[in-house]
Amino acid sequence: MKQRPGPWLLLVALMFLLTGCGERPGGLRFAVGGAPHEAAFWQVLVEEFRAETGIDVRLDRQPTDTDLRRQELVFALQARQSDPDLFLLDGAWLAQFAAADWLMPLDPEEMEADAFFERVIAMADTYEGALVALPVYVDGGVLYYREDLLAAHQIDGPPETWSELIEIGARVQAGQRARDPHFYAYVWQGAQYEGLVCNFLEIAASAGGGIRFEEGDVEIDTPANRRALSLMVDLIHRHEISPPNVYTEMKEEESRLFFQNGRALFERNWPYAWARHRAADSPVRDQVRIAKLPHFAGGRSASTLGGWHIGVSRFSDHPEEARRFVRYAVSRAVQKRLAIELGWNPGRTDIYGDPDVRAANPHFAVLADIFAQAVARPTVPYYPIASKALQRHLSAALSGRLTVAEALRGSQEAVEEIAATYAEP
Ligand code: GLC
Repeated sequence: MKQRPGPWLLLVALMFLLTGCGERPGGLRFAVGGAPHEAAFWQVLVEEFRAETGIDVRLDRQPTDTDLRRQELVFALQARQSDPDLFLLDGAWLAQFAAADWLMPLDPEEMEADAFFERVIAMADTYEGALVALPVYVDGGVLYYREDLLAAHQIDGPPETWSELIEIGARVQAGQRARDPHFYAYVWQGAQYEGLVCNFLEIAASAGGGIRFEEGDVEIDTPANRRALSLMVDLIHRHEISPPNVYTEMKEEESRLFFQNGRALFERNWPYAWARHRAADSPVRDQVRIAKLPHFAGGRSASTLGGWHIGVSRFSDHPEEARRFVRYAVSRAVQKRLAIELGWNPGRTDIYGDPDVRAANPHFAVLADIFAQAVARPTVPYYPIASKALQRHLSAALSGRLTVAEALRGSQEAVEEIAATYAEP
């Protein structure tokens, strides 16, 4: 009679299956987040890369929120984990990763660094003279608007100043409320996270303000910045043209869906939303248009410079293969698809003149202007910590727990302390 395997044998077999005999299954691990359709895009790419090179790349799916994505990576890198081998990095935290020595230097020639936006390579992707990442795409804040609703109210075009936005917004909102009691004129990203700082910075810059986080040169509590934060508070509480959930929960996807479902006249978001608004299943597909963000009278339109980069972990066990994937992800062919399929703005400049890219994205012409004026966030390594302090105070002002003056004075003091603690001796 045959003996049946003992329970221990089953256990060993199970462990063998689960751990893939001690080998890490799937070759390279690539951490990516973003909206669901973006993960689908990367999935297609890694499959094609495997077919071409025989190298397996598994996607580690990350959240959409940049702060949560950073946290996950920081845990892995602080523990010197070899997984993930590569990841997408927000320009906002690149300096922190580079200063911590978590990024494998890349060869500029091999990566064709010359083909990318020079300013972005210099400001974000180069650390102490070494190339540590490459820009996959660049971002800047834009204004989406409903052309049909403006026309229905005999308004010629999008607002150029914030007062125009308020005036037009209130008028159209009042008209639309009869049909939809939850209609609001303007949605943006006001939740307590990095996006709030981006929204604040561009409004501040449109009033002639801005932020600086350098030690001995912290600039937050200024008259222009107070004007900007007052405007944000007023949009919600005084003019009531932005819904209260702007500050309780609106990040990129929440505002995009609100607008896309036809419930708002204006929306501040990044360029990725364009392709979603224009998708076949979008209720506002034919009505949406894009413009520069408004500015204060006497100021000029400004957008926060954003964007995502690709880098290789210092602790990767497969640096050669990882670099090969980086080369592939930022190749002309892939960058072109990224522009056409996702509507993202490629980090490579040699894509913009391509006739297919132009045909698929006629709005890139508006964006070129926007990027030229985009304002960068401070590039200090302790940026994420200082940004958190600013987020807390801005959010307290939006919810009415602090006055605008208290919030900016409080952030100024908090960031001065952070800068003094983290700055190099
Ligand atoms: C976008 C930008 C990024 C920014 C983030 C804030 O993803 O590309 O730079 O930090 O939004 O939510």
